[in-house]
Amino acid sequence: MTANRRFEAGQRLRDIAAGRLRRHCATGAVALDDISVSFFSDRSVTVVSGVSLTILPGEFVTFLGPSGCGKTTLLNLIGGMIRPTTGKVHIDGALVTEPTPVCNIVFQQHSLFGWMRAIDNVAFGPRAMGHPDPRGEAMRFLRLVGLDNHADAYPAALSGGMQQRVAIARALATAPSVLLMDEPFGALDAQTRSIMQEELLKLRRDIAPTVIFVTHDVDEALLLSDRIFVMRAMPGGLKEEITLDGEFRHETDVLRNGKYRKLRQHILTQIREETLKVFNRPDGGR
Ligand SMILES: Nc1ncnc2c1ncn2[C@@H]1O[C@H](COP(=O)(O)OP(=O)(O)O)[C@@H](O)[C@H]1O
Ligand SMILES: [Mg+2]
Repeated sequence: MTANRRFEAGQRLRDIAAGRLRRHCATGAVALDDISVSFFSDRSVTVVSGVSLTILPGEFVTFLGPSGCGKTTLLNLIGGMIRPTTGKVHIDGALVTEPTPVCNIVFQQHSLFGWMRAIDNVAFGPRAMGHPDPRGEAMRFLRLVGLDNHADAYPAALSGGMQQRVAIARALATAPSVLLMDEPFGALDAQTRSIMQEELLKLRRDIAPTVIFVTHDVDEALLLSDRIFVMRAMPGGLKEEITLDGEFRHETDVLRNGKYRKLRQHILTQIREETLKVFNRPDGGR
C-alpha cells in the first residue's frame, strides 16, 4: 500500500469516528469492465465471463445466484484477491491489482483469530494501519455492533451471531470504502439471521460504505438491497438486474406485499433455471 493510500484510509477512519461520513459518501464507486475469469488446472475452465457493471458510492448491491455461479469469484476480484483473466476492476478510479484496506470482507464462516479476544480481533486492522489508539477504536466499533460488553471474550465463547458481529466490526474498523460480504449470515439460524439483517441495515445508517453482498437467499436479497444482480451459471455472469432502492427494507410483513411476492417468484424461477442448467450437464458443471 502506498503511503498516500494509507493516509487516505487513516483519514477516512478519523472521519467516520468523528461522524463526518454518512450515507452517500463520495467514495466506494466500483466498476467492472468486461471481466472474465478462467482457472487453469488440467484444462482451462471459464467460471465468469462478460461481466460489466458500475456500483455507486454507498449503494447496497447483491449478487444472487445458485451455488457455483461465480459469486465468490466476483467478490475476490473486487477485493483484489484474484485478478481477472480479461477486463479490469476499478474502485474510485484506481485499478485493483491487490488487496488494499479500501475493501474489506466478511466471510460466511467467521475468520476471527481464535487466540485473540474480540477487542484485539477488531483492533488488528487499526493497529496495522498505524492508528494511535487501536483498542479505543476497536471499542467504538464493538459498541456499534452491540458487543462492547463482550470485548474480552475469545471467539469460541461467543455465539455464531456474536462471532459474525465481531467479524463485521473488524471489517468496518479498517474504514473500508467497500464492504464485501460473502454469505455472511449463511451459517446462522433463521431467527439470528433475521436480526443480523436488521442490524446490518441499522449500521448502514451511521457508516455507509458501499456494500457488495452475496447470497443465495432470495428474501435476504430483496430485503437488503438497493440493486440485485441475478446471476447465470456456466459460465457465471449477470442474468438480470433488479433495482429496488431499498424499497422492501422497512416493510414489516413483506409477504403481504403483492409486488414483493411477484418479484420473489420471478427470481426463484430464474435461479431454478440456472440451477437446472448445472444439474442437467453430464459432468454436473465441472
Ligand atoms: N481456484 C479455483 N480453481 C478452479 N476452479 C475454481 C476455483 N475457484 C472457483 N472455482 C470454480 O469456479 C466456479 C465458481 O465458484 P464460486 O465463485 O466459488 O461460486 P459461488 O460462490 O457462486 O458458489 C465453481 O465451479 C468453482 O468450482
Ligand atoms: Mg461462494
